[in-house]
Amino acid sequence: MYSLNNFDPQDFLDKYWQKKPVLLKGLFEHFSDPIEPDELAGLAAEQEVESRVIARNGNDWQVEHGPFDDYSEFGENGWTLLVQAVDHWWEEGVDLVDAFRFIPNWRIDDLMVSFSTPNGGVGPHLDQYDVFIVQGQGKRHWRVGEQQVLDEKIPHPDLLQVSEFDACIDEVLEPGDVLYIPPGCPHEGYAIENALNYSIGFRAPNQQDLISSFADYALAKECFKDRYTDPGLSVKANTAEISQSEMAKIKSLMLKTLDQDAHFNTWLGEYMSQAKHELDIHEPEPHYENSDVELMLNSDEEWRKLGGLRTLLIDKQLYINGDAVGVSTDSHSLVELIAGQNSYTSDQLKKHTIKQENIELFTRLINQGYFYSMT
Ligand code: SIN
Ligand code: CO
Repeated sequence: MYSLNNFDPQDFLDKYWQKKPVLLKGLFEHFSDPIEPDELAGLAAEQEVESRVIARNGNDWQVEHGPFDDYSEFGENGWTLLVQAVDHWWEEGVDLVDAFRFIPNWRIDDLMVSFSTPNGGVGPHLDQYDVFIVQGQGKRHWRVGEQQVLDEKIPHPDLLQVSEFDACIDEVLEPGDVLYIPPGCPHEGYAIENALNYSIGFRAPNQQDLISSFADYALAKECFKDRYTDPGLSVKANTAEISQSEMAKIKSLMLKTLDQDAHFNTWLGEYMSQAKHELDIHEPEPHYENSDVELMLNSDEEWRKLGGLRTLLIDKQLYINGDAVGVSTDSHSLVELIAGQNSYTSDQLKKHTIKQENIELFTRLINQGYFYSMT
């Protein structure tokens, strides 16, 4: 487990979150990497795992997409391997993300891990989202600036960079140091020696994301069928015109769709609980019976949620991986436990599974591949 050293979450949120970049020196004491470079390379060799290598030779930038079996073409320095959604494939990655769960779960996206050789980096760039960058093994020189006017540069079709920027942080990071970078703040990191970095990324939907997802929901559920009506119509001077009052009626017809809480909540829970990257779901074969799970709770000690699985609560309704889960109200304390944490002891679970509906619910979720015993 990773704990934050000498850190006051509320103070951090008040001073820095979405406001300005900060270097949190030694945020993790005696940091131990959740993954080793050869293990990361193992993930990057998998077809399902999204990975890239970005290599630089002077001003010449190269971008290659994985899977990768061999890195010899890139030489000993000037390149970095970036692997997306490592928490979906690597249990210890989940534990590192958990350290940042003082931010609401729905805002947390996933864990990207980079391995950089000396001088390796992705170049100066901006991200649209907040990010914590944890320094793992090795040292890396990071520069970060506050939001400023910058030119875009595209040194390679797959690489969007920015022009030189003024830095407010210009430091060599050591293992356990953490940078927090708000959206739109330019940053660049170059390894001094072989180095691992962990980026805990966040999500913040924009209006376009929300509207298009809500429209998809409406089409799928066929739920918004009220039509425009105008029984009080009167003759106009110019019939080509859509009048102010007609526009107001159309706008209100559209806004009414958002006012139906049952639909709004279901859409939001389904949308926000979807993972952006593939999950490593394996349904147990054959499926377990309730009695099998009861036995396992007595013999096995540790349980986990599938890495990267999003479990959210809206008004006591549980959403998992894009679906509303049917749960009896009596199961709410179990639901709070399994939604709120990513690992559990059997003792924690057994406090709830004495109820029949709870053992049924937990068995159902295990059979969907969402929870598993570590034994
Ligand atoms: C990296 O680890 O090289 C990239 C992290 C970032 O700048 O977003
Ligand atoms: Co970045």
